Amino acid sequence: IYFIVHTVFLYGYMVVSLFNFLYSSIKNSGFFSKQSLYTAIGSLIPLVTNVLVTTKIISVPVYTTAISFSAAVLFIAVAIFRYHFLSISPIALRTIVDRISDGFLVVNDEYRIIDYNKTMESAFEKILTISRNKSLQEVFQGTCLIDSDNNLIDFINMAKISGMSVTFEKHIQKGNYDRYFSIEVTPIIINKIQLSTVMLFRDITENVRHLEAIEEKHAIMMEQERLASLGHLIGGIAHNLKTPIMSISGIVEGLKDLVAEYRASIGDESVTVSDHYEIADEMLSWLNKIKPYCSYVSDVIDAVKGQAVNLNASSMVSFTVNELVKRIQILMKYELIRYKCELNTKISVDLSSELNGDINSLIQVFDNIIINAIQAYEGKTGSIDFHIDGDDESILFTIRDYAKGIPNNIKHRLLKEMVTTKGTAGTGLGLYMSYSTIKGRFGGEMWFESEEGKGTTFFVRLPRKVSQTA
Ligand SMILES: Nc1ncnc2c1ncn2[C@@H]1O[C@H](COP(=O)(O)OP(=O)(O)OP(=O)(O)O)[C@@H](O)[C@H]1O
Ligand SMILES: [Mg+2]
Repeated sequence: IYFIVHTVFLYGYMVVSLFNFLYSSIKNSGFFSKQSLYTAIGSLIPLVTNVLVTTKIISVPVYTTAISFSAAVLFIAVAIFRYHFLSISPIALRTIVDRISDGFLVVNDEYRIIDYNKTMESAFEKILTISRNKSLQEVFQGTCLIDSDNNLIDFINMAKISGMSVTFEKHIQKGNYDRYFSIEVTPIIINKIQLSTVMLFRDITENVRHLEAIEEKHAIMMEQERLASLGHLIGGIAHNLKTPIMSISGIVEGLKDLVAEYRASIGDESVTVSDHYEIADEMLSWLNKIKPYCSYVSDVIDAVKGQAVNLNASSMVSFTVNELVKRIQILMKYELIRYKCELNTKISVDLSSELNGDINSLIQVFDNIIINAIQAYEGKTGSIDFHIDGDDESILFTIRDYAKGIPNNIKHRLLKEMVTTKGTAGTGLGLYMSYSTIKGRFGGEMWFESEEGKGTTFFVRLPRKVSQTA
């Protein structure tokens, strides 16, 4: 009985092991398949021989057992030395591949899946099931990876043709599933033959969301800044419009008197033809005086309207230095008068020199700098130089004041951070946003020099408009 139990246990044990080897050789491909297969065959030969000899189904010479064991040794030796059976490194490699944070997928030239790792499986488990031998179309159906233009297959072909890696980004959305991936497609080419294609899937959802949040924050800040400068502006508009409107109403009064005088002269024989001409000319001259005031009012309205539109809807148009200076002068006029400051504008470039970009955001930058200069005089009379020079490629704007200067302890933080020394009267947004506008929207540079007690100079250098024909 001991012999029977022992034998059944032993054979059972061997059959289970063999089954495992065979199963693993079918499930895997290439390397792993072969090492299992050789080991299985190596074990199978003596087993079968032994069964045959023991059960005497066929009669074989005694040395058959010895030969069968030699064959077993040979096969297992091949599995160990040629295919590194029992070596830890393929298993270690597999474990790493399964655990790396990038998902990967290998397909053959019929776009069927040969291999993938656990990361890949779990990245998509909510919306699809990946399995070996399925085609890409079957697996990714219903996602933009297959259904849209520029799908996975297109990129695989692109990588095949170029023989190089191709990387692209996809936003995959299905029901609640909403993730961004950066996908790198690499052809595996050995001896000029394309064997398969490896695809690495990196989940970049967090990065994308982070970027979106930053952009949103930036947009909110731009909006706050716009509203703040709009506040300044509205104070100014009233004064800007008051003068021309008062003048126009004065002219209207003058005209009214003239008309009354003319009316009284009707039928008066002492009024000659030349008198009539004279009255008419005088009326006309009053009317002509209204015109410049009207165009001034219209300019003010244009300038204000420009600042009031949403800066986010940035328009890539061009404008001239002349337009820019005119608008800045109109918008700053009230602020300058109110704080008894003088703006000395000196333009050493052609007035028709053109710049690229949204004029309104640039005006906001200069308004900020000029208002800072006005505030630096702290209500005292002062002068501010606004010089415009340039070379062939760029235009340099210099804004200089002779006021108290920027405190040394905030100099290194200015432009890159929000800094203010004005307490609740300031936000520190002014220069911070100006700097990002100049760098980001105009591709320009902005810097400053300042000495406490002597004054401050801000420099803004902007590239000239690139001519279309160049
Ligand atoms: N021309 C200048 N002279 C002296 N100090 C200046 C000058 N320009 C800027 N500063 C200093 O830099 C700080 C930051 O200026 P910024 O325009 O960014 O913000 P703010 O003027 O304080 O606030 P806001 O612009 O929102 O009114 C100011 O608080 C001030 O201390
Ligand atoms: Mg400011």
